[in-house]
Amino acid sequence: MRELEGITARSLPIVARAPGKCILFGEHAVVHGGPELLLAIDLYTQVSIRAAASLSLNGDKDPRAHHPYLGPALDRFGPVPPDLQIRSVSRIPRAAGLGSSAAFVSALAAALASSGGGISRAALAAESFAIERAAQGVGSPGDTSCVVAGGLLSLNVPDGEALWEVSDGARNWPVARLPDPGWAWLVAYSGIPRRTGDAVRAVSERLAAADGPTLLERFRSVALEGLDALRAEDPERVGRLLDQNQTLLAEVGVSHPRLEALLEAVRPAVYGAKLTGAGAGGSIVALPRPGKALEALRRLTRVGAAAYSVRVAPSGVELVEPGPPA
Ligand code: MEV
Repeated sequence: MRELEGITARSLPIVARAPGKCILFGEHAVVHGGPELLLAIDLYTQVSIRAAASLSLNGDKDPRAHHPYLGPALDRFGPVPPDLQIRSVSRIPRAAGLGSSAAFVSALAAALASSGGGISRAALAAESFAIERAAQGVGSPGDTSCVVAGGLLSLNVPDGEALWEVSDGARNWPVARLPDPGWAWLVAYSGIPRRTGDAVRAVSERLAAADGPTLLERFRSVALEGLDALRAEDPERVGRLLDQNQTLLAEVGVSHPRLEALLEAVRPAVYGAKLTGAGAGGSIVALPRPGKALEALRRLTRVGAAAYSVRVAPSGVELVEPGPPA
């Protein structure tokens, strides 16, 4: 397995930033062991920690009560100074399926781990997943591994450059790096926030029905064909497969009329598009046709979406130089 550079030890104040993520193929199915392909995107969340008289997060003096990820993160990385001023700023829309929670968790975990002596990237991926899982109760390590590693990644795929394996005690998810074809992608937030845990539970119920294994097999074959098309750098085929993955996601009940409206609006300017992340609201990802990225962005903005042109963020979570005290 390839050893990525870890997070080094620093003393407070410490600032870390992590990219968001977007899933190309296999969300939901990955929770049940299916293949998933996802990429870290160049929208970032930055978290800073510094010593203070009492614990606060963005000015909130009782943040454990209001922020589900904070308690599990502080509990896993004790002993750190119990009184920390934590601040976060983010360009990733929240609860939008674009990895804002994973980015917050892994940037916070990286900063806390750095103050405690540093951590390997594989251990940070495992810790970030454990924190997210403690808050969400369900899910896969796809999002957290992606924002920790950066680049284009696969889960549960037998080939690729193996990075690490993450386990929840019952299931193991092997994580590998794939070559990035270097394309620009579009992501667009519908404005409908959603809870990942609720969507994951609803799809899990759907997949427990008699045709569940057949559906999972269809998710699997679309994702593996998607991998093949990405490796062949064939955007037309990738686009067709994105559309097919969307059909499957609609079939398991996580599309939404607003997502359908976005997909409809952008279709003439892209090779293909689908919802990305948990669905039931949230965002879409699209692969624009050559010369059509601006038109695609305009089409999405016209129907009220917050649309971004993104590229793969090659490095995952990292420490950055702290600025002056806030
Ligand atoms: C959420 O971004 C992706 C899901 O597959 C849940 C997960 O993998 O944890 C829906």
